[in-house]
Amino acid sequence: AKPIIIDCDPGLDDAIALMVAFGWRDLLDIRGITCVAGNQTIEKTFTNALRIAKHLNIEVPVARGAERPLIKPLTLADDVNGQTGLEGMEITPEHIQPSKLSAFDLISKILTEAHEKVTILATAPLTNIAHLLSVRPHLKNKIDHISLMGGSSIGGNITAVSEFNMFVDPEAAKIVFDSEVPITMFGLDLTYKAYTTRQDIQQITGNLKNRASRMLGDLLNHYMPYSERMGLNGVAIHDACTVIYELKPELFSGIKRVSVNVDTSGGPSYGCTLVDFYDLTGQNKNVDFVTQVDRQAFNNFLYLCCARYLD
Ligand code: BDR
Ligand code: CA
Repeated sequence: AKPIIIDCDPGLDDAIALMVAFGWRDLLDIRGITCVAGNQTIEKTFTNALRIAKHLNIEVPVARGAERPLIKPLTLADDVNGQTGLEGMEITPEHIQPSKLSAFDLISKILTEAHEKVTILATAPLTNIAHLLSVRPHLKNKIDHISLMGGSSIGGNITAVSEFNMFVDPEAAKIVFDSEVPITMFGLDLTYKAYTTRQDIQQITGNLKNRASRMLGDLLNHYMPYSERMGLNGVAIHDACTVIYELKPELFSGIKRVSVNVDTSGGPSYGCTLVDFYDLTGQNKNVDFVTQVDRQAFNNFLYLCCARYLD
């Protein structure tokens, strides 16, 4: 199984990313889950990750990470994820025991002890990862690649041009993009194409009645009004794209090797990812930028993910 770390801020769609990953432990060796402030405060994202693990019956080290971005004050996405960060998702209030290590120490330990390279899936602001890469740069060569959900070249979802995860901690994002660790990027360009309609979900929840399908159903019900306001045809399953790519890369195509920079100027495009499709800057091509997904196959795969759960 492929060794991975998931750095997240659950968050409704992070919860789906975890559900997908937890269902394929024969293929993914989840060495640790690390949490960061983003969709909600660190207390809430951390508790939510521990609850999701309990709900899906998984024992895995879950560690608490940064409570605020490197420089900027924290911006929450409580409008979409609610006061708990998992609004509308009915999961157990119980939780597994947390790791005694901080996110920083857990990631350091996993990378140090690993005999093979470890993949990091990042579905949140990049504060924890930037912290690690800055303080322990010698561990970079233990990272196979970082697959991250964030950024956009087609306009933002929190400001006119910035995507939420990048906007929350632009300085951290810049450190990660400039780190020379291989990066696979799932920005809004891609994730808006990885959407699920009411009909898709009915397929899943109508045929499968288990914890995983209920989580997806809850996500859809909660997100749909927001997605409709944004003029989308369905609910974008942003964060799970990073996990699904590791499991089924053939669903994704149009991967362009490009240079990506992050705007840290503090102006109106603060947190914007500058994607140089035409190599106009001549800068180092630091990112594999994913542009296409087979939406129907993606939804069929989500069905399969849910079907891995028995009750
Ligand atoms: C990203 O922002 C968060 O609200 C979601 O969990 C996802 O990681 C989408 O822009
Ligand atoms: Ca997230």
